[in-house]
Amino acid sequence: MKVLVIGGGGREHALIWALSKSPRVKEIVCAPGNGGIAAIARCVPVSQSDLDDMLRVVVQESPDLTIVGPELPLSLGLVDELQRRGLAVFGPTRAAAMLETSKAFAKRFMQRHNIPTANYSVASSAEEAIKALGLFHFPLVVKADGLAAGKGVIICDTKAEAENAINGLFSGKLLGTAATSLVLEEFLSGEEVSFLLLCDGKHAAPLVPAQDHKRIGEGDTGLNTGGMGVYSTDSILDAEMTQWLLHHVAQPTLAGMAAEDAPFVGVLYCGLMMTARGPMVLEYNTRFGDPETQAIMVRLESDLFEALEASVQGRLSDTEFRWKPGAAASVIAASGGYPGAFTSGHPISGLAEAAKVPDVVVFHAGTALVDDHCVTAGGRVLAVTATGDTLENALSKAYEAIAKIQFEGMYYRRDIGHRALKKPRA
Ligand code: AMP
Ligand code: GLY
Repeated sequence: MKVLVIGGGGREHALIWALSKSPRVKEIVCAPGNGGIAAIARCVPVSQSDLDDMLRVVVQESPDLTIVGPELPLSLGLVDELQRRGLAVFGPTRAAAMLETSKAFAKRFMQRHNIPTANYSVASSAEEAIKALGLFHFPLVVKADGLAAGKGVIICDTKAEAENAINGLFSGKLLGTAATSLVLEEFLSGEEVSFLLLCDGKHAAPLVPAQDHKRIGEGDTGLNTGGMGVYSTDSILDAEMTQWLLHHVAQPTLAGMAAEDAPFVGVLYCGLMMTARGPMVLEYNTRFGDPETQAIMVRLESDLFEALEASVQGRLSDTEFRWKPGAAASVIAASGGYPGAFTSGHPISGLAEAAKVPDVVVFHAGTALVDDHCVTAGGRVLAVTATGDTLENALSKAYEAIAKIQFEGMYYRRDIGHRALKKPRA
């Protein structure tokens, strides 16, 4: 089989790393890929914001299966276009991706289908939003309706902050483009869990759970990022909780989307808050998480290609998954200044030494090759990932490896897994 992966981050590197182990996969092409992916797949340039350009690459490469990594191509309807041409593609249609691309749609959908989520209100003007503030206590969460690359959620402690957020989102000052609607939402506290499932339209198969670290600073402080590190252990969700989530979240989501003529095929990523009132869905993503995928793929022992193919062909209920027990951890090395402004093009050293640490895989996120040398080319640069018998063991290998890597301005959090490490061992 020839596989084409659209995307060029750490997530795609991890997917391709797992696909390359499948005896069914003979050739992997990645568009656009990155400096690390280039070592295990042929990379071809593409603009991920240009639907015609992506279609051109798919037609030119003529793969047996196309896998869409990021949300932008999904929101542009890449899957719909490929399906129209009779091509096999893993990912949701534009209508199904609305669970991620419109937070207002997602909230109303959850309400229609009794899926547990925070109380909310949708507003389509600043005036309407400010009026609705009276319905909420503080802190309050203000969310832009559309895709915002992790920057569209603002937690407000006071009415003045909420008014600023509302005005900033509608004027375009905060995100660059003016919001046409936003969601006001009750603030929830608890631990966050990333619960990802492969879906074939009817059936959902849970992947091992993960916990992301969204903030830039240690102790979960500072600005939100795409994710600064992640770990995966089975203890994040026990078997009983997993069954509860299948029954109350995943299955109603699939049944609801099918009933609304947008059957969901692809990865359903439920961002959960485990509150004192029970688990609540904070958000849906309709794709693999980044960096969750890096920690999940190093634990996957069964064949990823077979599982993705079964999702596309509606055969997931017959598919078996095998996982490495123990733990995986992934620590992001970021460019200095991220998630704000940063510079790129800095040479990266120590990659080979880091990869020699046992059970470590260094996934590339924002890197490029210049004259055969890897340089930085993004905010999140590397995801240094390790497995271990215990979380402590996985983390110590990941940190041993990341300490061997250097580039100008490199920053990483030294406290990935801190919540789990503080808990008494089960
Ligand atoms: P989202 O894009 O909706 O996942 O939001 C990004 C991050 O904002 C989440 O991962 C949470 O850390 C935080 N967040 C979103 N909604 C809420 C909420 N209702 N209460 C508390 N934190 C939230
Ligand atoms: N790690 C969060 C995300 O992929 O959205």
